Amino acid sequence: MKENRGNFSSKLGVIAVAAGSAVGLGNIWRFPYIAGENGGGAFLIVYLIFVFLIGVPVMLSEFAIGRKAGCNAYGTFKKLSPKGAWWLVGLMGILAAIMIFSFYGTVAGWTLEYVKKAICDEFAGQDLGALSQSFSDFTTSPTMPLVWMVVFVALTALIILGGVEKGIEKVSKFLMPLLFVLIIAVCIRAVTLPNASKGLEFLFKPDWSSLTFKGVLMALGQAAFSLSIGMGTMITYGSYIKKDTPLTATAIEIASCDTIVALLGAIMVFPTLAFLGAESTGGPGLVFVTLPAIFQAMPGGYIFAILFFLLLSVAALTSTISLLEVPVSFLVDEFNMSRRKATLLSSSVIILLGVFCTLSFGLLSDFTIFGKTIFDLFDYTTANIMLTFGALFIVIYVGWFFGRKNFVDELTAGGRGNVVLAKIISIIVKFIAPIGIGLVAIGTFVIGGIV
Ligand code: PFF
Repeated sequence: MKENRGNFSSKLGVIAVAAGSAVGLGNIWRFPYIAGENGGGAFLIVYLIFVFLIGVPVMLSEFAIGRKAGCNAYGTFKKLSPKGAWWLVGLMGILAAIMIFSFYGTVAGWTLEYVKKAICDEFAGQDLGALSQSFSDFTTSPTMPLVWMVVFVALTALIILGGVEKGIEKVSKFLMPLLFVLIIAVCIRAVTLPNASKGLEFLFKPDWSSLTFKGVLMALGQAAFSLSIGMGTMITYGSYIKKDTPLTATAIEIASCDTIVALLGAIMVFPTLAFLGAESTGGPGLVFVTLPAIFQAMPGGYIFAILFFLLLSVAALTSTISLLEVPVSFLVDEFNMSRRKATLLSSSVIILLGVFCTLSFGLLSDFTIFGKTIFDLFDYTTANIMLTFGALFIVIYVGWFFGRKNFVDELTAGGRGNVVLAKIISIIVKFIAPIGIGLVAIGTFVIGGIV
């Protein structure tokens, strides 16, 4: 059973792959539009607090129990607490992974269409209105978005079939830094556009009156989504981390990378919006409309656009790989299924659900549940409810049941890492994180803003 699981060849491998999971559409597509809809600067501050005060400890909790147990999300709880009902947390994580991939695949498919559009130079000469129109023409059409979604899921499945090592490690180590360089170049152009300062002000000057309680909830959900925590990805990846690697520094590095990319994502978008004189509440189409506009204002914009959307799809791919790995490792470990069968089964379910998410923008746009399309419902429910509660249960488990000594031992790899910091983190995991996440989660129900 063990040899079926696949493995990473080096310590850097797993860091790169976990960072590859974290950095994705969540940073460049989701963060700017969620920040835009929730007030900009004030949202950003709450977001940063959540990432480092709560996100990092949750990620560490996941790594610690995953490595200790050496299993998938469900098996980890089953193994560490055979008598408890904690395995339900693992099961919820597996469900969350499937649901996230279902709507994420839609947007990942859009990135492929935008590679094609960039190659065909379709953005040339289009103003904001035309770019919005072409985005909505494409996303509402009944065929191509489906085709791209299926292509994307199939691509992910092919990579997973080849095992989790080599391929993903290489992609994460070489192409992600390249994406980073491109993003920096686009940011430089964005901040030098006329009127850019207005966009930067929106992002960096907090206007607390624009932050609602729902905004706080969205910030926590976005932090969990962006760091790939609260659902078992990092438990699964933790099971691949070598025993002698101290965990604390690893999680801080991953969270820092992730946050820098999200910030840069927003720095690309908001000055461009200010330059175009557009609203910051553009919804899911935000980057697909603003980025083509900025490429037009850049020297070499044609090449930039192609490379950018190509690397964005690669960033999405390293995230979807980690999503698919969650149900696949569950089926392999728990049902002794072959990797091949597990991959085929999981990706078929994802494609099936993905069809509904993808059509939410066109044929099924009038089909709503609690006033949300299926896409919105999956997006909102996973990030703000499943990941939030997943994170809550994970810190409660680690803080109160896993044992402080076990946790500190894992964080420091038996005393190799910083013990004082590990002890502080264990206190955060026991008290601060559960209270913080709990308040936000309970508050959601009290104000009735669940959906
Ligand atoms: N963190 C990814 C992103 O920001 O794009 C999305 C994601 C991947 C969420 C894997 C959860 C996950 F398990």
